Amino acid sequence: MTIKEIFETMDYGPAPESAGDALAWIVDQGSRFGHFIDGAFTEPGEGFDSRNPASGEVLATLTQATQGDVDAAVAAARAAQPGWEALGGPGRARHLYALARLLQKHARLFAVLETLDNGKPIRESRDIDVPLAQRHFYYHAGMAQLMDTELPGQQAHGVCGQIIPWNFPLLMLAWKVAPALATGNCVVLKPAEWTSLTALLFADICRQAGLPKGVVNIVTGDGAVGERIVKADVDKIAFTGSTEVGRRIRQATAGRGIALTLELGGKSPYVVFEDADIDSAVEGLVDAIWFNQGQVCCAGSRLLVQEGIAEEFHTRLKARMDKLRIGDPLDKCIDVGAIVDPEQLRRIESLVAGAEGTVYRANCDLPEGCFYPPTLITGLSAASPLMQEEIFGPVLVSTTFRTPAEAVDLANNTRYGLAASVWSENINTALDVAPQLAAGVIWVNGTNMFDAAAGFGGLRESGFGREGGWEGLRAYTRATGEARPLTPVEPFSGDAAEPQPVDRTAKLYIGGKQARPDGGYARNVYDTAGALIGQAPIANRKDIRNAVEAARGAGGWARATAHNRAQVLYYIGENLSARAAEFAAGIDRQTGGSGGAAEVAACVDRLFTWAAWADKFDGAVRAVPLRGVALAMNEPCGVIGALCADEAPLLGLVSLMGPAIAMGNRVVLVASEPFPLAALEFTQVLETSDVPGGVVNILTGSHAELAPTLAAHLDVDAVWSFSSTDLAQVIERGAAGNLKRTWVNDGLARDWTGPEGAGRAFLEQATEVKTVWVPYGA
Ligand code: NAI
Repeated sequence: MTIKEIFETMDYGPAPESAGDALAWIVDQGSRFGHFIDGAFTEPGEGFDSRNPASGEVLATLTQATQGDVDAAVAAARAAQPGWEALGGPGRARHLYALARLLQKHARLFAVLETLDNGKPIRESRDIDVPLAQRHFYYHAGMAQLMDTELPGQQAHGVCGQIIPWNFPLLMLAWKVAPALATGNCVVLKPAEWTSLTALLFADICRQAGLPKGVVNIVTGDGAVGERIVKADVDKIAFTGSTEVGRRIRQATAGRGIALTLELGGKSPYVVFEDADIDSAVEGLVDAIWFNQGQVCCAGSRLLVQEGIAEEFHTRLKARMDKLRIGDPLDKCIDVGAIVDPEQLRRIESLVAGAEGTVYRANCDLPEGCFYPPTLITGLSAASPLMQEEIFGPVLVSTTFRTPAEAVDLANNTRYGLAASVWSENINTALDVAPQLAAGVIWVNGTNMFDAAAGFGGLRESGFGREGGWEGLRAYTRATGEARPLTPVEPFSGDAAEPQPVDRTAKLYIGGKQARPDGGYARNVYDTAGALIGQAPIANRKDIRNAVEAARGAGGWARATAHNRAQVLYYIGENLSARAAEFAAGIDRQTGGSGGAAEVAACVDRLFTWAAWADKFDGAVRAVPLRGVALAMNEPCGVIGALCADEAPLLGLVSLMGPAIAMGNRVVLVASEPFPLAALEFTQVLETSDVPGGVVNILTGSHAELAPTLAAHLDVDAVWSFSSTDLAQVIERGAAGNLKRTWVNDGLARDWTGPEGAGRAFLEQATEVKTVWVPYGA
């Protein structure tokens, strides 16, 4: 036999990793687990079996947490939290470092246990999940060390409820626990019911590391336990899982004044241009969709390939699929392991059973049991459910495109926005397309790259909030300082029926033009002496819809240069300044106060501040451990609906408009309800300041009536409220539809009229971090 023949016929022999130590650890614990509460394991209670999906064998029995268990865990966290936070950043850093060291020391045990419990290939748990989890703890030990100096004015939320899925059990735990602990929070974490064992091993590690009791609490159980955590007395919920459950959590937390981050599903595009290195792109696809059997929220599950190379690409892809090895996940030669649970297998099977396209299944040996072959489906229409719905299995759908513009359209034709890959050897093509993709993470000539230093998270129905990097850290903190209660402001009343003299018909400001309110109604506005000083239109839902449409149509603003946006803001400031006395007098008359001049001066100052920031809040390059860069780009959210403060009729409006448009957003502003006239007069300043039509839209009317429409509108990307009407519940509940970002509690808790009103929080709320990974290599 020649060497060539040996190479052609040689197959990989089995190279199984021993399960001995991991099984022995389970037996040592009695094979039945309670929860980890206040530094100790509780007695096992009624529960359910946890199985190895590859063999079906029962690994251990877990306990379903009762209401009492959840309450005890929250109470333990609550009691431990002040002491933990008081340890200070460097004190907490030592503990995080100790956890990282122990994770490293027991790396093999964690990897084998993860593979037994989840079914993922040992190669992945050993080389990806566990090292990334360690890295997360090391990185956040550093964050804890630096927090006191780098995040002044920020403090822990308190107790965080954390609910994680089954696809990366230990890694998702690390993503949740490390930043929470670094910033001084204590946690109650629930692993997914199918995969709780590495979380329980982590609890054991916390004990060994001497972590103070109650800092980390782990309760096991199904979705009902998750619901109990969501309802509990916690200060923040961090969730990773399905969009459907994320939406329910958004509704359940609405109006409770607690922080929320949601990392949800995706249908991420994998875009291959004609000038891509085809073999690399095929190999990348193996990682994109067959990594972890495709059970990855950011899996490159939608292949978009340029027409000219589609046939060649599919041929090479199928050849590669046929070579993938499926089988015992503990075998180091295995590429594709078991599906996490028979229930998930049935879900995948039923989704593919209805496929209208051409289904290609990898021509490889499929073991008995909970396995599904790598699958490619072609010939689907863009609207087909399989093109749109997350399958969460090893199933790739594919379609073609002709031009870069078509690729962008197809890529963005989804309700999700988690991740995307772009493959092209032409740097211009890749870097032109990457920012146009609606996703929180973009990989150029690569896929599934993760690191603790780089933010990860989505847009649209993929959720909001980032994990990793400074942005992820900040999500576990809130501003220190006293809450300033907002007292509702009543408008002045009077009895004159018509303004004397009637100088103008009251109009709204939509699409850069004065617009009559749809309902045709206006209300009289009186001064403190009861004299009629004007009329303010009463906007209704239709006006909101028109304003949102105008804002949506002004997308060019996001693409204007930051310099250009700054110029427009300076110009607004200049034009307001020229009419300062007139505006000040108007404000004094409307509010019955004497602070008009100071308010106008503050407005001009803020306009200059936001103009200054427009080209300076420009993102960062993250030091990720690869040859290349990860760019953290601050992108505008899109269309922001904002209910302005009631008390300061002009400053309330300018303070929200300024940061929003400086960052490239378009706004629909609902002006002060009792004092609406200053905002209407301000539209004249906008008209003379080169603000493109639709970038700023101003409505007047009832906050309580307009907020629900704004919050529920599917074309609005974020809603802010500084209204003195309590709208938190209505806005956060309404926002569940398209899972838009909301900012209603934080803004109210602080004194926005002082320096914080021109602070960083506004810039952060006005932007989303998009992480673009650009590996180097010639
Ligand atoms: P899931 O969203 O139901 O479960 C995720 C976690 O949430 C688990 O810990 C679960 O116990 C908990 N949970 C379930 N219902 C809850 C509720 N009402 N309140 C609070 N917590 C609750 O995801 P599941 O059922 O495991 O998978 C279903 C589909 O979700 C998958 O096929 C996949 O499409 C998607 N998924 C997406 C993930 C992602 O990372 N984006 C992760 C897991 C699933």
